Amino acid sequence: MFKAVLFDLDGVITDTAEYHYQAWRTLAEELGIEGVNRTFNEQLKGVSREDSLRKILSLGKRENDFSVEEFARLTKRKNDNYLQMIQKVSPADVYPGILELLQELKDSGIKISLASASKNGPILLERMALTPYFDFIANPKEVAASKPAPDIFQAAAAGVGVSTDEAIGIEDAQAGISAIKAAGSLPVGVGCKEELGSDIALVPRTDFLTLAYLMEIWEKNKI
Ligand code: G6P
Ligand code: MG
Repeated sequence: MFKAVLFDLDGVITDTAEYHYQAWRTLAEELGIEGVNRTFNEQLKGVSREDSLRKILSLGKRENDFSVEEFARLTKRKNDNYLQMIQKVSPADVYPGILELLQELKDSGIKISLASASKNGPILLERMALTPYFDFIANPKEVAASKPAPDIFQAAAAGVGVSTDEAIGIEDAQAGISAIKAAGSLPVGVGCKEELGSDIALVPRTDFLTLAYLMEIWEKNKI
């Protein structure tokens, strides 16, 4: 039986992946960079603030146009806009089934850990009144490499004293699924096979994520 579930946040626990997208699209428009659409956005999901901006600048062939200070101002501008958008996040915004899953995991003594690349993760958990469910929140500022590297999932598992191969990771992003695989945990994707691949367990929506489902996937994977 698995001993921990390592959760991504944006796009798994709530719809903030959409706000990240809106904020990046606005910044790209301000810079005159075209092509930050939903297809391109799949490459930004799960990716750190700085790496996301690098990808957008590279899309617009503007990667050499900004000094270190200007680059920092751009990431701040995006984040300030994003922070405005998440002011209204409340417990009502928790995706269907997530609260029930957290309660089931807690009742079963399975550790709950956050493996989000977002530096806004703790604020969001507070806003949704979910902080008490989490045994640990991995700090993205303290990990060497961001997703698709395994670091944040390794940190999330270590933080609850569980080996990565005894944990399930839940993700909505390509970079995140790669990170879970690289960490040696069992991935469960929220989304479709076109985006996340056909070699892992997938649910179309979070209300499919029950303890019974995770146990079934875990048992199947052992065979
Ligand atoms: C998550 C999101 C990304 C976001 C990253 C950093 O991984 O999926 O879209 O860029 O966190 O978030 P932050 O809130 O620190 O800018
Ligand atoms: Mg995500």
